[in-house]
Amino acid sequence: MLTLNRNIETALRQNKTVNVMGSDYALTGGFKEFVEFSKSWETMGVDRYYGQADKGTRYRRYSDFDFNPVTGELNQLSHRAYEQSEAHNAYVGGMARHFDDIGADVFNSPILRALIRLDFDVYKAVLPEELHTVNWQCQVHQIRIEIKPGAQIEITPEGIHCDGYPFSGVHFWGRHNVEGATSKIYDKQSNVIDSGTYLNILDTTYFLDRELQHYVTPAINPSNSEMGYRQIIAISFSRPGSEHDIID
Ligand SMILES: [Fe+2]
Repeated sequence: MLTLNRNIETALRQNKTVNVMGSDYALTGGFKEFVEFSKSWETMGVDRYYGQADKGTRYRRYSDFDFNPVTGELNQLSHRAYEQSEAHNAYVGGMARHFDDIGADVFNSPILRALIRLDFDVYKAVLPEELHTVNWQCQVHQIRIEIKPGAQIEITPEGIHCDGYPFSGVHFWGRHNVEGATSKIYDKQSNVIDSGTYLNILDTTYFLDRELQHYVTPAINPSNSEMGYRQIIAISFSRPGSEHDIID
């Protein structure tokens, strides 16, 4: 249904991060489901911890899943708060942030299932073979930021940061009335090692999050009358209690 037509294994091993263009993927069927999945960004609850209310609003959903890479089976885990340390997130770290769970429409979407399987296939490039077939935990963050006319807003108000995941894929899912919002990847010493501005659906960054840092430059809505928006979905993998645990 969804394939990546570019070999990025060597680049991921060498650089720990790879930017992939939306045009590097092929959608072979599931077109109706792709449109339905795209519409799911329009029905999310408000992120009450985002701040910047005078400039815009962040909407999001978040859930953890148990993922079997052999069968593709996905089991949703019970609701949990999203917690980050103050060291990782000076803006809202140390808080238990509750977001809406991923609902049945997204959970059952063949597009989400295909994305998770595809992202894990990418991750395999840096994993020993014995970890290709064991169960993993998978985290899904679905995010939409709406920006008021003429406003400039921080996409990542916590600044340059790391979310602690062993591996993440951030997939872009559209923007309108947005300038700026360049994604930057840094090493642990905060040197920029890659950057790119998402423009087309499925433009993607894969990165070994724990070993790097990231930031998105502010977004500006140049319109003086219409709202702007920017949408992404982030999919990450971890194995709690192992050397591939989330770090904080
Ligand atoms: Fe982040």
